[in-house]
Amino acid sequence: MTVRVGVGYDSHRFGAGGPMRLGGIDIPSDVHCAGHSDGDAICHAVTDALLGAAALGDIGEMFPDTDAANKGRDSIEMLKAALVRLQTAGLRVHNVDITVVTQAPKIGPHRPAIRARLAETLDVPLDAVFVKGKTNEGMGWIGRGEGLAVLCTASVVTR
Ligand code: CDP
Ligand code: ZN
Repeated sequence: MTVRVGVGYDSHRFGAGGPMRLGGIDIPSDVHCAGHSDGDAICHAVTDALLGAAALGDIGEMFPDTDAANKGRDSIEMLKAALVRLQTAGLRVHNVDITVVTQAPKIGPHRPAIRARLAETLDVPLDAVFVKGKTNEGMGWIGRGEGLAVLCTASVVTR
């Protein structure tokens, strides 16, 4: 069995009005992540981490934001498409670990729902998915609440 590791990163500017779509769930919030798709920065970072681990491309190449078909697109569907690419190459997901850097909302209370949604999407056990939140201690653009950033590490194994 070969283990491969990838890293993904995403950031989105906040727009007025909630809810905030993150990790395939809708979190109550006064702001949302603006974007061409549904703005789900967790799904985007996870997608890039998996594609990177497999050396099979990146999310922008799979789903160009210049393509009208991707407007408002459900990012869980993008993640599933990346998963199919991995499966076709004989790989399966071993685990993903996510850090959301944002002043608000608190991620902790939504951990169970996000883990469940992503585990179901990736067809892995619950303990193969973890998510954590951190503030940026009030510093910089994240500290000012202009947007958020997401980091994801992922490991994949040969099937
Ligand atoms: O305590 P420290 O400065 O290291 O971290 P913090 O950014 O103040 O966050 C403290 C804790 O709050 C985190 O370890 C998480 O448990 C939680 N947190 C969260 O769930 N969601 C966030 N957006 C920020 C923090
Ligand atoms: Zn994104």
